[in-house]
Amino acid sequence: MNAANPETALSPRDSYPDGIDDTRGEPLAPSLSIVIPTFNEIDNIVPLVNRLHRALTGIEWEAIFVDDDSRDQTIEMIRTISLRDRRVRGIRRINRRGLAGACIEGILSSSAPIVAVMDADLQHDESCLPEMLRMMDSLSADLVVATRYRDQTQHVDGLTKLRHAGSRLATQLAQKLLPTQTSDPMSGFFMVRRGIVEAAAPKLSLQGFKILLDILTSSSQRLAVAEVPYDFRPRLHGESKLDATIVIEYLGLIIAKLTGGLVTPHFLMFCAVGSVGLLVHLSMLGFLLSDGLSFPAAQTFAMMSAILSNYTFNNALTYRDRRRRGWRFITGLVLFSLLCSFGVFAGVGLSTLIYDQEPHWWLDGIAGAVIGAVWNYITSSAITWRAK
Ligand code: GDD
Ligand code: MN
Repeated sequence: MNAANPETALSPRDSYPDGIDDTRGEPLAPSLSIVIPTFNEIDNIVPLVNRLHRALTGIEWEAIFVDDDSRDQTIEMIRTISLRDRRVRGIRRINRRGLAGACIEGILSSSAPIVAVMDADLQHDESCLPEMLRMMDSLSADLVVATRYRDQTQHVDGLTKLRHAGSRLATQLAQKLLPTQTSDPMSGFFMVRRGIVEAAAPKLSLQGFKILLDILTSSSQRLAVAEVPYDFRPRLHGESKLDATIVIEYLGLIIAKLTGGLVTPHFLMFCAVGSVGLLVHLSMLGFLLSDGLSFPAAQTFAMMSAILSNYTFNNALTYRDRRRRGWRFITGLVLFSLLCSFGVFAGVGLSTLIYDQEPHWWLDGIAGAVIGAVWNYITSSAITWRAK
């Protein structure tokens, strides 16, 4: 146990509220909570817990697995272990996906004043944890990043050549654009004082992988950041969940930070989906007209196809964490179509007003499109895919 640091050495009894029954004996207070997001990682759980036990002898710790309802029964495996090992517990989240959101939920449910976040697939070297905890203490760090990129001698066997190049590029982008103080702002392996995440939590993005970058850039205070280098190992079992949408979300997060939160990743994704909708609309219109349909009929079908395309893609991508399924998919489509028609009216009405003042057809056109897009975005976020 880290006796020198008053925060890590805090006895739980010191912080008990008045009047609580004090006869239950001295509980073991964790000085370190380890939050581990999981999605289909069943085969990695036992080896990871074993390694944590070996790496953390002499430290009081707890491990909180946050599972997004994996199909492979990861949560059952975690519960089986937690029946025998009180250090281990699991949170099962339903109908939600997102590495960042899972980590935040785990951190907010933790008991220790210091929290580590690490992957379940053994790519992160758990033997760094005691050193990281020491650094929180001896360097009074707020955050310790386990970094893959401090110097050239480090091995990054766990990434393919392409991923490695992409990861380096993204890292440089983050370092150029944002005030980060670490060689690996994309790391999924770090330790932080829980209070810092608690304070930043309302501002943090729940989607994507970039939780560390988000914490670094969302904190109102300047954080004291330290680093520990480690070799990123290959995955033990299973496969990576990083896909193209995660990369797009990451770029979106950078843009959101640069615009002070005005242009959010959600909004950008919504606009991208809308552009695809426009393409669908125009190609459908062209096709139906050439097929001999009257303009009003062709335009109606084209609009309906665009709405269907926008709805389906937004449901699958933009709002995938609040995805509407089954019957709700149909009711959502009706709602979305109705709200979009209002958006068209609002766009046409207001842009005509502008046209009366400033008769430039292109300005009128852009204004109409922007008004329509913003209207649709606001009603989609607040109504069709409102957070439950
Ligand atoms: N609960 C939950 N929900 N967990 C998830 C989700 C999700 O939607 N997606 C991934 N995870 C878990 C995985 O089960 C794993 O334990 C951990 O998060 C990391 O996921 P991987 O799929 O193994 O990520 P990676 O190895 O490709 O990416 C690593 O490198 C990135 C930077 O290049 C991770 O360390 C990332 O955190 C890091 O940003
Ligand atoms: Mn991994």
